[in-house]
Amino acid sequence: MSGPSLHKLTAHRSIHNGSLFEARDILEVLEQVYQEGKADHAILAARTLAEHWETRTIAHADSEEEGFYQKKLEENPDLGEFITMLKRDHQLFRRIIGEIKEIIDEHGVNNDVIDRFKTISVLVQIHNHDEETHLLGEH
Ligand SMILES: [Fe+2]
Ligand SMILES: [Fe+2]
Repeated sequence: MSGPSLHKLTAHRSIHNGSLFEARDILEVLEQVYQEGKADHAILAARTLAEHWETRTIAHADSEEEGFYQKKLEENPDLGEFITMLKRDHQLFRRIIGEIKEIIDEHGVNNDVIDRFKTISVLVQIHNHDEETHLLGEH
């Protein structure tokens, strides 16, 4: 997912949105089976969703930190503080997913798991918007 596509607004945005839409679909399934009390199905859906966040959004964050952010910083050294904030967002994504996996392993799916999946979804939307506006906007 690295390479030139990260540097183009349209391509980068479609990576963001594709991943978010898929996450939303899986969360919908998870909430439904959880509410129906199907514990085994809920665990399966929650593990699938955690893996989705890891293989899509967290892998995307890793590749941004490996090159894209550095390139943007070289182009505009004033972006230092902003990029530090974006990296902090990435850290929160990793931490929330780590917590979700721990809770599932210990307790199965509970409200804490659902809350964290909703939280990461909101944080990622805010993060993506900031990234698109300040690192990829036309200027
Ligand atoms: Fe990012
Ligand atoms: Fe991004």
